[in-house]
Amino acid sequence: MSSDALSNLMHEERRFPPTEEFAADAVAKADLYDDAAKDRLGFWEEQARRLDWDTPWDEALQWDPPYAKWFVGGKLNVAVNCVDRHVDAGNGDRVAFHWQGDPADDKRTITYRDLQKLVNQTANALTELGVKAGDPVAVYMPMIPETVATLLACARIGAPHTVVFAGFSADALASRIQDADARVVVTADGQFRRGEPASLKPNVDEAVDKCPDVRNVLVVRRTGGDVTWNDDRDLWWHDVVDRQSDEHEAQAFDSEHPLFILYTSGTTAKPKGILHTTGGYLTQAAYTHRNVFDLKPDTDVYWCAADIGWVTGHSYIVYGPLANGATSVMYEGVPHPGDKDRWWKLIEEHKVSILYTAPTTIRTYMKWGPEPLQQHDLSSLRVLGSVGEPINPEAWMWYREHVGGGKAPIVDTWWQTETGAIMISPLPGVTATKPGSAMRPLPGIGADVVDDQGKPVPNGGGGYLVLTEPWPAMLRGIWGDDERYKETYWSKFPDMYFAGDGAKKDDDGDLWLLGRVDDVMNVSGHRISTTEVESALVSHLKVAEAAVVGATDPTTGQGIVAFVILRGSAADEGDSTVQELRQHVAKEIGPIARPRQILVVAELPKTRSGKIMRRLLRDVAEHREVGDVTTLADSTVMNLISEGLDKGSAKDED
Ligand code: WT7
Repeated sequence: MSSDALSNLMHEERRFPPTEEFAADAVAKADLYDDAAKDRLGFWEEQARRLDWDTPWDEALQWDPPYAKWFVGGKLNVAVNCVDRHVDAGNGDRVAFHWQGDPADDKRTITYRDLQKLVNQTANALTELGVKAGDPVAVYMPMIPETVATLLACARIGAPHTVVFAGFSADALASRIQDADARVVVTADGQFRRGEPASLKPNVDEAVDKCPDVRNVLVVRRTGGDVTWNDDRDLWWHDVVDRQSDEHEAQAFDSEHPLFILYTSGTTAKPKGILHTTGGYLTQAAYTHRNVFDLKPDTDVYWCAADIGWVTGHSYIVYGPLANGATSVMYEGVPHPGDKDRWWKLIEEHKVSILYTAPTTIRTYMKWGPEPLQQHDLSSLRVLGSVGEPINPEAWMWYREHVGGGKAPIVDTWWQTETGAIMISPLPGVTATKPGSAMRPLPGIGADVVDDQGKPVPNGGGGYLVLTEPWPAMLRGIWGDDERYKETYWSKFPDMYFAGDGAKKDDDGDLWLLGRVDDVMNVSGHRISTTEVESALVSHLKVAEAAVVGATDPTTGQGIVAFVILRGSAADEGDSTVQELRQHVAKEIGPIARPRQILVVAELPKTRSGKIMRRLLRDVAEHREVGDVTTLADSTVMNLISEGLDKGSAKDED
């Protein structure tokens, strides 16, 4: 962000307090901050008591930096908390999910009682396949109810799930299966995307061929196309799950029992397996979902438009809403130009009252204009959420005006895969929001902005975002890599968690997130490391060297721009090579990592010690004047790159 844009933001004069009616009826009132400030651990214990525990905890927190244990000695079952207890309370007929497939006439209504049966059957099926407490299960599935059931069934039997986003490649899937040591994979034959079936099973076949320890692949029939079948390994869901008993006796697990591993990109090419556990995670997922979205479970219809493959889907499609007994919309598809009013139709049809989505989606709709929205009655919407990247004030105002009818509060929620749940956000019935600011840490959460020395910056200052107190849903480590856990999050500042984000405090002390300070890009709210894309590029025979930067993009937040040096004769092939390389990255990592632009260059800008100066490449990618080049080993390199740019390397806009 330029410093001009930043100082404009910091002097944002607009304030949007909740209406009096909203404030009067809000779940979270201002005293929540006071309660948490008075007795932080007591406050979290009070939140934890909203769950059903089989055995109460002895101690709220054991903090042995950088390792936390929450609700120590307590035991509970997550699936019972998310499903059974609502049925037992007489809410079995409440809708858990209004599920909408990508094909328009593909709908299912799933009550809490239906979900209970499905989860129990799935738990029995996994048990029959030999899955026991502690055994990781890999999940590579579309946005269908069976996916939710699989996660809850894993939780029910204490088998940590590791969900791999269905847009990731076979290689990405294989490396995660291997790292987590999963022996069972749950998937589907395919999924519907943009009105078309797209296969998933071939990716799983390719991945599992590299994972000899995988015993079984359980396959939901979703698209009904032909599939290659391995009789020793593959099982149809309808053959195995449907015949199971819909009763299952759940066992309680320790509060610190692993619930899931979710891989996310770091600054190296190897993704990190973020480990989350049971009691603290569910406590904070439920607490934040209820208070940040002002959830009234018996009247609200909530829709989180993320994918279950990301942490947002874990915490705010599955665990938070279900722990709170919410009624949700779940949608298989994604917005696309061929179907611009699908979303708004869905909101009208189900009278959605709470919508949670990402700035990139809002900007996409901004680009398409407000007409598709105006044809639908969106007056049911009363809270709007944003997540995944900084939301620019224009998108914020557009969201408020065109989606929220000029009145629904917007909650801009900052958090990460690592934090497990929302950390910084307005409370919709309390906070007078500012367009573009995530405002304050939630009650019970400690966050600050510090300088290089770890000293808090004064109001008006900028620096690094840190979390100053352990929180219940915090990651418990990186799966199989303690050193990396310590090094990544806890080595920059003593006893403070370093989030990897830059932030500013404005004159009132409210927080403005500025994006990552490390070599991690944020494309449409998805984290992708520059190194990961670089190593995918150099794995191609024609590439000698590659450097990747995230350049500002009006729709996706950042776009991936790659600079490559080709080997020998490949250098003359031009455009076709560039297309081939873009495809290659999509195949290696997944389509979300396909570079927006690849520039073929003769040299890369390096310091004398050989470090690539991405700052300069970012200048080029963003068409800015190139900054200080005095530390370059060869200062003519940037001229060569700029000349190459003028000759016009291929750019692709799909
Ligand atoms: C990174 C975490 C949180 C679930 C989705 C992404 C960025 C996230 C915001 C926000 C500014 C945000 C940060 C963070 N981020 N939310 N409201 N404002 N930036 O999870 O893939 O773990 O990425 O997303 O840079 O570190 P993730």
